[in-house]
Parts: sequence; C-alpha cells; structure tokens
Amino acid sequence: MQLQLSTWNEIELHLEHSKGIIIPIGSTEQHGPTGMIGTDAICPEFIAKAAGDEADLLVGPTFNVGIAQHHMAFAGSMTLRPSTMIASIVDWVNSLAHHGFTRIYFLNGHGGNIATINAAFAEVYAQNSLGGTGESGPETQNVKCMLRSWWELGGVMDFCKKAYPKGHGSHATPSEVALTFFAYPGHITNAPLEPKIAPNGGFTDAADYRKNFPDGRIGSDPSLATVEDGGKLVALARAGLVADFGKFALS
Ligand code: NI
Repeated sequence: MQLQLSTWNEIELHLEHSKGIIIPIGSTEQHGPTGMIGTDAICPEFIAKAAGDEADLLVGPTFNVGIAQHHMAFAGSMTLRPSTMIASIVDWVNSLAHHGFTRIYFLNGHGGNIATINAAFAEVYAQNSLGGTGESGPETQNVKCMLRSWWELGGVMDFCKKAYPKGHGSHATPSEVALTFFAYPGHITNAPLEPKIAPNGGFTDAADYRKNFPDGRIGSDPSLATVEDGGKLVALARAGLVADFGKFALS
C-alpha cells in the first residue's frame, strides 16, 4: 500500500489498525559510468514497494535527495546541506506523527545519509524530552523512529560476499547497480570501465573526490552487475524488510 496512491479516507482507516509507515530515503548522485543517478533512492524505494505489496505495509513518499556534496563535481548530482536535511526529516516525522503515526521506519540507500538521519532522530527525541517546547509542538510524543540500510537486511551482505568476492567496493557497487537493472531493465547502460576495479581511498569535498575517483566509482567493478542478481537481492531484502518492520511495528 502506497501513501501516494491512497486517499485520505484510506489512510484514516489504515491508522485504525497500524501506526507504522516505511519511508524510503536515498540520494540523487552519480554512480559511475554505468550506474543510474537515482540508484540510492531507487533501491530502497523498489524494496519497500515490493515488501509493501507482499505484506500490506504502508510505504510513504521517497526522500530522494540526501547528503551528496562530495559528488557535486559530476553532472546531475544534487545535495542537501546536513542542516537542511535534518530540518526536512523532522518536518516529515512531525507531519506523520500529527496524523497518529508512531512507528516511522526509514529504509536507507546511501551510507552518506546515516549520520544526518540519526541527528534528525535526536532532534525529534529532544523535542519530546523538552516537553513539547520544541519548535514543532507535542505531536511527536510516543514516536519511535528507526533507520535501516537495505544492505543490512537478512542475507544481503552474505550474498554480496559470495557473488562479488572482488570488486564490490563502496560506491557504484555491483549489488546496487544490479538492483536498479532489475528494477528498470530498459535503462541498463554499458560503458568501458578503466581500471576494471576502481581505486579505494578517502575524500573531502567535491573537487577532492573527482581528483581521487575520476569516473566516480570507489573500489567497485559494476560490470559484475546482472539483472538476475538484482532479482535475488530484491527477494532477500524484501523478506528481511517484512520481518524487520514487523518487529519494529510491535515495539
Ligand atoms: Ni549508492
């Protein structure tokens, strides 16, 4: 069940038996010469919709621009400042809490978002602890937020270790690229990758990132990505999400 495709009457009815919602959260940033710019938003969104269809879970709109300043030297990337993202997440949570949602599960697709999402949760809880004297009033009382990245869900990491013993890397990985190829098979891109496995290392700002990783990849060989693997990853993550969200909703 998707919030975006529902009427207000349907959501009011849904709230009578469930106070939980899944929010896919990702990023809009380059993913190397073969990866879609929306990869980090597409992965959690596709998994959440699959789990939502399977187990009648409510899935909200995708928060699809995140912390990506380090990708801004590549065309098409978009970023929020951490302060903007924290304020936006707090407003999303407060809006949902205002209607009675108390279990808000963020399914994340971008490692660079994690610190900022946790900071936003701290902001929500600070408002509660301050007795509703925060900017948004008392709506968030009793709200619990949860953050889970899709690759942490049951079996996903084990699959990646076996399928990609070399060249998984940490950005534009074959697993995330495979998942998008499965989701959007009409948008598969082939392009030469040189070197085959990208370099590893650190970075600071956008210029430093592009200097260290000229084609955008970090440590990865996304030519290993296949539609078939993408389907297996979706199946693992979908089952993991149904179980994980089920536990959270009852917490
Ligand atoms: Ni990514």
